[in-house]
Amino acid sequence: MNRRTFLKSTGAGLLVAGSGMAWAQSAPRPLPLIPLTDLTGGIEGRISLALNKARHDFGTGAQSETFGINHDYLGPVLRVKQGQTLPFDVVNNIGETSTLHWHGLHIPGDVDGGPHQEIAHGATWSPDVPIVQHASMNWFHSHMHGRTARQTYSGLAGVLLVEDDASLSADLPKTYGVDDFTLILQDKMFDGSGKMTYALTAEVFEDGFEGDTLTVNGAIAPVAQSVPTGLVRLRILNACNARFLELSMQSGPITVIASDGGFLAAPVEAESILMSPGERYEVLVDMGAVDSNALNVNMDGGGGFFASLFGGNAAITVLTLTRGAEAGFDGAMPRRLANLEPLKASEASVTRSFQLEMDVGADLAALAASWDNFCGDAGAMAINGQPMKMDRIDEVVRKGDTEIWRVSVDDQLHPFHIHGCSFRILSQNGAAPPAYAAGWKDMVHVEEGWSEVLVRFDYEAPKDAPYMYHCHILEHEDCGMMGQFTVG
Ligand code: C2O
Ligand code: CU
Ligand code: CU
Repeated sequence: MNRRTFLKSTGAGLLVAGSGMAWAQSAPRPLPLIPLTDLTGGIEGRISLALNKARHDFGTGAQSETFGINHDYLGPVLRVKQGQTLPFDVVNNIGETSTLHWHGLHIPGDVDGGPHQEIAHGATWSPDVPIVQHASMNWFHSHMHGRTARQTYSGLAGVLLVEDDASLSADLPKTYGVDDFTLILQDKMFDGSGKMTYALTAEVFEDGFEGDTLTVNGAIAPVAQSVPTGLVRLRILNACNARFLELSMQSGPITVIASDGGFLAAPVEAESILMSPGERYEVLVDMGAVDSNALNVNMDGGGGFFASLFGGNAAITVLTLTRGAEAGFDGAMPRRLANLEPLKASEASVTRSFQLEMDVGADLAALAASWDNFCGDAGAMAINGQPMKMDRIDEVVRKGDTEIWRVSVDDQLHPFHIHGCSFRILSQNGAAPPAYAAGWKDMVHVEEGWSEVLVRFDYEAPKDAPYMYHCHILEHEDCGMMGQFTVG
């Protein structure tokens, strides 16, 4: 772990001693708005997404080498509507093979963008992606087997907001960049000159790569200035490779209205929410009551050895909101949001068990030293004793069956994700999930014992285009903590 113990200032950034945020802004920087492509009114022609090599200043004063999708770091926010089919042209210009996976979409395996749908450098992948599901916050990221971690960390990630008739007419803030903000959180490590770094070691494989500085839409601790009075909506994605983030609001409890796969039944207030890598939550903040507010994050969410030893790390402010004079959304906090069916675990006809395993005997230090040979097929980590193999199907699922998937671990905290579905959590670490995680999800975590989800797959994934299930600590996924299943 790179512990910084000295003070150093550069042009724009300030390297702060101690733990927590290594880089801080010496002057407040406005929250970058991710460019929105709003297709809810109709789609003309094809939607092109270009994966590019680029440079980006996160606010350290240095240009970091990044990847971006149509932009210099991260991708656009795509806003689409249920019932549309999205005609994508994904062009790869990054100089190495990649893929683009639609995380959270209920779509057939052949357009899912997993590791079997490789896009060579210079090639274009043109899937027609049907949007069948209801309003939800989804995302897209590289899923290149063995390279997902580095490519996603470098910036191959974006957000796909699905709207439906109900969400478009709901009495909620929905003016993008005014009272409705999309926030992509990604932690970064910077070298002494302020350039983003990513270095593999055996320890990085064990813990997953953790940066010491959290960025929001590519900026360090930005400020959303002059947000309107009234309710403001934050749609938040944890796009970190490995960090669990514990989020809270300075003004009081945090009010959650939606999780990965759609609206909760009603708003849920919590002291804080724990977000694993890959998770999304939408929250409402009341700016009518305060002049300024802050989104605070404990970067060691979920505890872990040091947090339990020292009583947890303090939360730091990662986004400041200051109130302007204009009125924005003037509605009240909604009472009801959606109908969530009660869980009927008794309808499950199949139960499957997945044991996540950290150490199946490979030499992690050697793997780290030889990046080019590094690939999940080297098999350092596993599920049910089997490291991921591209040509092995692990599970065969019948379309339309309701199933229980039970995920267990030895010790460490792992976030588990399943493609092609939204599920409901029956139990997390042996207990009922917190109320904010009781709705539609495609991420569940487990630290001890097991977690169980109730899931059904309605689309097909054939042998040559199977779905994945995996740990969403991206280094664990790259190391083989992933499996494949067909649906038919
Ligand atoms: Cu977010 Cu299989 O991925
Ligand atoms: Cu996914
Ligand atoms: Cu893991």
